[in-house]
Amino acid sequence: MFEDLQAAPADKILALISAYRADPRTDKVDLGVGVYKDRDGATPIMRAVREAEKRLLNKQKSKTYLGLAGDIEFNAAIASLVFGEQADFSRIRAAQAPGGSGALRLVAELLKRTKADATVWISNPTWPNHIPMMRGAGLQIREYPYFDAASGTVRFEAMLEALGQADRGDIVLLHGCCHNPTGANLSAAQWQSVADLLVKRGLLPFVDIAYQGFGEGLDADAEGLRILAGKAPEMVVAASCSKNFAVYRDRVGAAIVMGRTGAEADIAMSQVLSAARTMYSMPPDHGAAAVRIVLADAQLRADWQAELEEMRLRMLRLRIAFAEALRRQSNSDRFDFVATHRGMFSRLGLTEPQVDRLRTEHGVYMVGDSRINVAGLPEDKLDWLAKAIVSVLD
Ligand code: LMR
Repeated sequence: MFEDLQAAPADKILALISAYRADPRTDKVDLGVGVYKDRDGATPIMRAVREAEKRLLNKQKSKTYLGLAGDIEFNAAIASLVFGEQADFSRIRAAQAPGGSGALRLVAELLKRTKADATVWISNPTWPNHIPMMRGAGLQIREYPYFDAASGTVRFEAMLEALGQADRGDIVLLHGCCHNPTGANLSAAQWQSVADLLVKRGLLPFVDIAYQGFGEGLDADAEGLRILAGKAPEMVVAASCSKNFAVYRDRVGAAIVMGRTGAEADIAMSQVLSAARTMYSMPPDHGAAAVRIVLADAQLRADWQAELEEMRLRMLRLRIAFAEALRRQSNSDRFDFVATHRGMFSRLGLTEPQVDRLRTEHGVYMVGDSRINVAGLPEDKLDWLAKAIVSVLD
């Protein structure tokens, strides 16, 4: 049966995990996959999540099925975290999904069921898995320019011009905050312009929000999404708890639909759940239950927010210190954008051969497009790292 089958190419981000682990060097540096790390390079379970898990273990009496939408209270809590407490929840529906990726795929399936020839506009560059995921659901892909590598800034005029070419009914996938892989984000004023354009041209906003709380703060990171929700008649969202609750392997996320009316949102959600049934039936419970407990308990919630804020501020300090080290070692302001970017990533603007040299000659691992995970920066040897980067430039 499988004799003529070709092996699938490895995922470029996930392949870095095993390559890094297999490297025997002790002074290696992992700036690859997007997981938060503390100064010891560990990815700890958050305090509030651990406490919630203990309570869950003590209280949970049954593991019987919950239903296709998973944990209903979790769904309401996540919708509120993302849209803000003032949103019009009479026309917002959420379904628990297996991680942000599961949510993305569920939304993509909904879009395909809604419009067989649907086209999704995706930023160039974007998280590499967006493209196969949307194609896998049978959607057409178009790209809009997003990033100017030389200056490290958003190509906003070019982005608007491209989206101005989209046809009525096309979908626009936007990173809610902390753009992956670039770290360059839209300002509130730019979000307003994007929202106006989408409404004027009849385009559906599709927001992927996977790093809420890692950029400017929990509410500030959702501002763009909330601006869209205030202007657009309908929108779809894929939310992830992997990073901001550090529950990566537990797979916690939500597919969210905002309809013109509650009745339309109910119909759309019935299609999301029917799609879930054909793919995996029901989402895993444990991580979402822990997140639900954290969000429902005032003390746990406050502790979670405080720890998340510590993580955000650590990444911010690392950005500033690393930009300074790069300035010292390169004698230029070429990498100053690292300090102004927000979220977990920045793209340094190196070529693939330069990235390869960093790995082979210095044991420094980053994604081939020179995306770095800021949380992986080694606090005590930033100048060493900056020097290594500068050494591969020529
Ligand atoms: C990343 O971009 O590194 C993370 O979102 C992990 C992944 O699944 O790619």
